[in-house]
Parts: sequence; C-alpha cells; structure tokens
Amino acid sequence: MIYFGCDYYPEQWAQWLAEGEARWETDAALMAEAGLNVVRLAEFAWGLLEPAQDRFDFTWLDRAVEVLGRHGLKVVMCTPTPTPPPWLLYQSPEIRQIMADGRQQGAGTRREACANQPVYRERSRIISQAIASRYAQNPHVVGWQTDNEFGCHGSAICYCGECETAFQHWLQAKYMDLEMLNEAWGGSFWGEVYADWRHIPAPTQSAAERSPSHLLDYQRFSSDTWRDYHNMEIDILRATCPGHFVTHNLMSFFEPLNYYNLCAQLDFVSWDNYHYHGATPGVVAATHDHMWGILRRNFWVMEQQIGHINWSVYNPEPGPGFLRLKSYQGIGHGADGMVYFRWRQALAGSEQYHTGMLDHAGRKTIGYEEAKVIGNELKTLAPYLEGTVPAAEVAILLDFESRWAMTMQPHNALLRSGVAPDSVNPSPIMRVDRDERREDQQMTGNAHAMWPFAAPYIALWERNVGAAIISPDSDLSGYKVVCAPFLNIVRPAVAKRLAAYVAQGGTLIIGPRSGFKDEHNKLFAQPQPGPLAALTGSTVRYIDSMEPERLNVLRWNNVPHMHRTEVGIWAELLEPQPGTETIAYYSNGWYANEPAITHKKHEGGGQVIYVGCMGGPDLYANLWDWLLPPLHVQPPLAPVVGVEVCVRAAPDGRKVVFVLNHSSQPHAMTLAHPLTDLLTGETHQRSLALKPHQVVIFQEVAATAHA
Ligand code: GLA
Ligand code: ZN
Repeated sequence: MIYFGCDYYPEQWAQWLAEGEARWETDAALMAEAGLNVVRLAEFAWGLLEPAQDRFDFTWLDRAVEVLGRHGLKVVMCTPTPTPPPWLLYQSPEIRQIMADGRQQGAGTRREACANQPVYRERSRIISQAIASRYAQNPHVVGWQTDNEFGCHGSAICYCGECETAFQHWLQAKYMDLEMLNEAWGGSFWGEVYADWRHIPAPTQSAAERSPSHLLDYQRFSSDTWRDYHNMEIDILRATCPGHFVTHNLMSFFEPLNYYNLCAQLDFVSWDNYHYHGATPGVVAATHDHMWGILRRNFWVMEQQIGHINWSVYNPEPGPGFLRLKSYQGIGHGADGMVYFRWRQALAGSEQYHTGMLDHAGRKTIGYEEAKVIGNELKTLAPYLEGTVPAAEVAILLDFESRWAMTMQPHNALLRSGVAPDSVNPSPIMRVDRDERREDQQMTGNAHAMWPFAAPYIALWERNVGAAIISPDSDLSGYKVVCAPFLNIVRPAVAKRLAAYVAQGGTLIIGPRSGFKDEHNKLFAQPQPGPLAALTGSTVRYIDSMEPERLNVLRWNNVPHMHRTEVGIWAELLEPQPGTETIAYYSNGWYANEPAITHKKHEGGGQVIYVGCMGGPDLYANLWDWLLPPLHVQPPLAPVVGVEVCVRAAPDGRKVVFVLNHSSQPHAMTLAHPLTDLLTGETHQRSLALKPHQVVIFQEVAATAHA
C-alpha cells in the first residue's frame, strides 16, 4: 500500500480558530475526501505535551488521534524533541548550542539544543518515553518519526564545553594513545603536538585555518553525537512500540551528518522535498535515489511541498500540475509514502507565508484539488507497485567523509558548500537542466557543492537510465557500472571493495580528486589517486583549480562518436602507465595535449576509467553513450528533453514505468513496444503524446514485448 497524507498540527487550529477543537472534525473529513490515509503529528508539540516539568498532558492529542482515526486516517506520531519547551530552556540555559564564533544560540524557536548536554538528553529521553508509552497500543498509530530534520538550521555541530570534553573522550576511545593521534593528524605542522587529551580544543573559529584532520574528526564526532542521540530515541520506540515502524525525515543532499550512520537503525528513511531555487527535476530525482540508497530500501517523502514555500530566494507559486508531477516523481523513484506539508497555511508563527492544502482562510488550494485526484489514482496503482523498487543497473557512490573533506578544503569557491547563489560566478559547465525554462538555473547552497556527484547522475537521468546513489561500503555486485565521481578520501576497505568489483569484471568510473586523501584527511605520500592507482593505471602529475570563466576543451582519442566537451573548475594532468590508454587530452593552455581521461582494461573484463577533469552532464553524456550500450544498459524509452522516465521493478519482472513531462511544452515519446496506461487502461502502440506537465504511468505488458 502507498501511504498518502499530510502534516497536521491540530494543536494550532484548536488555538487559532474560534471553533477550537471542533475544527478537527471538518479537517479530518476534508482529508478523507482527498483520499488521505495518514497524518503526521506532534513533532514540535513538546511545550504542549509537557507544559511544566514532569506534568504531562496528552489528552488533547488523544482526542485529535481519535477524531482522525474515526475518519480512517492512520497516524505517524513523533518524538517532539526538536523544540525544548520554554521552561526547560529557562531552567537550563546551558543546553543551548555554542556556535563556532563562541556566541550562544538564542532560545525559543527550534533546534537550539545540544545533544551532548546531559539535561537535554535526559529530558528528551523522558518525553520520548512518555509519548511512546502513551501511543504504543493506540490502534490508529502505525509508526514514528524521530524528532525532525536532525542538523537543520546549522545545528549539526556545537562547540560548547560539554561537546569539547565529549570530543576529547571520543578521541581517546578512537586513538587510545596520544602519540597515535599526533601521528594521525600530522601535528608537526605548526607545532600542534598534544601532550594531554585536555589540550585538544573544539575547532571553533580560529585565527588561521584549522588542520583538516582535526576538522574531520570533529565532524565525525558531531555526526556520531546525533547518531547516538537518535539511537537513544529509536531504542525507546523499539522497546515500547515493537509493532510500529520508525523513520526520520532527512533533507536534500544535507552534508553535515553522515546519513548512512544516522539512519542505520531505522526501518526506512523519509525526506522532505522542497523545490528551492536550483532544485531542478534532475536534482530532485538524484535526491530520491540517494534517499533510496541510504538503506537501499524504499522510503517516504514525509514533507512534500504543495505550493509556494516561505524560505527560498524567491517563492513562486508552482501552479497546476506541480503536485501530481512531484508526487509521482517521488513514487516512481521508490517512495512508498507521500505526505504533504502542510495541511493548512499557518495563521501564526514564522511560516505564515507557507501554503498548505488549505490556505489560511481554509479554502482548498490547487494542491488540495490535485491531491484528491492522486488519492484516487493511488488506489488503482498500489497493487501494481507492491514489491517493486526503483530499477538501477548503475550505482553512483556518495561518501560523506569525502564531501566533508571537500568542504574543509574546497580549493575552489565553486566547490564550497552553502555558497550563496550570487557570491561566485557560476561555471558554464554547471548546467543542471536542458529544459528551456530552467537552463539558467544554477545549483545553489548544498546542491551547488553536490556538483561533482550530480553531474554524472544528471547525464544518466537525461538518458532515462536509472541509478542508485549509495555508500561506497555497499555491496556493489549487482551493478553493471559503478561511478565514484568524488572519492576524495579512500579508506583501505573501500579500496579493497572497488578492486574486487573490477576483478569480477565490473566497469568503474573514478572522478577527479579521488584517492587524494587518507582516512585522516592527509595527502598520501604516493601519487594520486593513491590506493586506487593500480586500478586506474594512471596517476596525477599536476592539478589546476580554475576560475569560473576559464574552460578547457577535451580532444577525444580512439573513442568513436564523442561530442565537443568543455571541462572546468578542476583539471588534472594524468600520467598513464604502459597498458593504460588515454581517451581524452586537453586542448588548451600550457597543458594542451596532456592526458585528461584514461582507460585501463583489467583481466576478466573489468575496466576502469579515470576522469581527471570536472565536467558537466555533457562530459558524462559522452562517457555513458560510449560505455553503456556494450553493457546492455538500456533506457526503457528513448529520451526526450524535458521528459523523465523512471521505472519501478519487481524481482518477478513486473515493471511500472513513470513518464513525467517536467516541461511546459507538449512532447511525443516513441514507444518500442506497446504499453498500457494503468490509470486509463488504454494501450499505446507506437507513440505517446504528452501534454505539458502530464504524467502517464504504464505497466510493461510482458517481457516478450522486448523481443
Ligand atoms: C522543514 C521542516 C518543517 C517546515 C518546512 C517548511 O522541512 O521540517 O517543519 O519548517 O521545512 O518548508
Ligand atoms: Zn554542545
């Protein structure tokens, strides 16, 4: 079944409207009318559930659950821990985080608390236990969301005294011996050799740049802090509510927390899908595939944007067609739950300019009307989706530690995370979308720093080739091609895994700056790509970090049908060993005619392509068109610009094909074999005409149709 619902705050409407709680009845009836079957509740309600220390009031929430349940709605309940109540913040002001510049976070919004502060931990444990016990047996509650968006609002890292001490203990447990730490960090640089664990500071704002090794360990420690805090809540829920699922709502390409570790104990992950400036359809598709890849399991969208939001650069109203397109894009990429944020536009608080399924006055929005259509369609679709997962023959490896290393030393402003859209000139190679309306949209914020990971993905996405975005610690054996676009830090286990994959005949693409750093964020004493050099059969001689406007052009060698390709941001001059072929040279500047991309064939059919330059989708388009056909990686439908095609497949060969026209233009698709529209029952023989923003969902008739 597909869970389909909204994020609801009954406590707000009880306070804001004269009719009070009576409104819940109307809301629940309207939700049921739209075909919703689930609501998420209470993630920010701590202050109402525990209005004074150890005085709990669940009665209002009981009543809300009861009303919703009567209308057939199931409930995802939350531990309300992102919002410590005012009495707690007053009583224990020290629980507020200290920022890098030494200032303390203000009290009174959300996410201000430090997970290493004992009082916050203890009170979080108590409220989580209380709410878990209260709803463990409730027939309407099906599962839990822990907290809300760990790390949001810059809260992943804190520099308070508790954190500093906890960091020293964390280091002690990791290195045992100070000598080991001094060696791992290479502390002889600037004489940073420690004689006592207590001398190691939290890496606050400092005169000069900090040691990347020190920073990396602090990032790991901070990520572990939230993982441990998260596991504390998960353990309570597991012990108290064994029949319920547990999930958490993540953010798009969020960097500071290692999501693989943070989520390891969950049943499935969820994420919040907002279409901020730069979140083009390809980037959103990539996020869905990344979310699937975290646990290699279907996921939920716990907050799907319905209409305009309140926090982007501009906040356009997307208009008709948007919600249906975005909902099916999510479901097509493996979402088994689709929950809309929020039910009704708030009358109070900081998010008043954020629309809902109802507007502030309670009128149905375009989103509501569209949800109603989707709700009905999902009843037809659900049985076909049963047992299916997003189809992917290509894997892209995304390594959090490599992302952190890049953020610590981007070595190019274009690779800096969180970069403001207007603070650097974008590179022309950072083209996110070929669709006429979005051509000029640049990636911004975290998405901007995602560039090295996004570029190969976008080119696959444009070819309708499904890809999983997974951890380098995953089992790679099921994939025909593995692409490690930016494996800056290479741990020994990962190097071994990649070598085994190639030895078994795999095709591996390794991107620039891979194998530069060891697990302590230090350069290897061997030529780059360090422990991957035997695989690539080539090494890096010089690197060039380029200004945005400076590009180089590749001259392809011995590979047919390549198109003109510009590269920018980063270029490496490669030295291929005997037996390794150069497949592209640079054409401009002092390193014209030096190798840019090499190809090494290994025994047993394995092959490794080392891409020493950064390119956009055009670079990877060339590589995919060359590499994929011989490996029989084929798109389900021939690509058309502006139209996405994604597939969910079951082990028994059943396939559901999603055709999503993201553009405002009509398009025609050529069909290789007949496809049956699951919603209309109509079979299309040879072609399919799509209206702007139209979604068509097919069942693949039979495997024989391919013959
Ligand atoms: C986030 C939060 C929500 C809300 C929305 C607004 O995703 O989880 O509580 O603030 O953003 O878009
Ligand atoms: Zn702290």
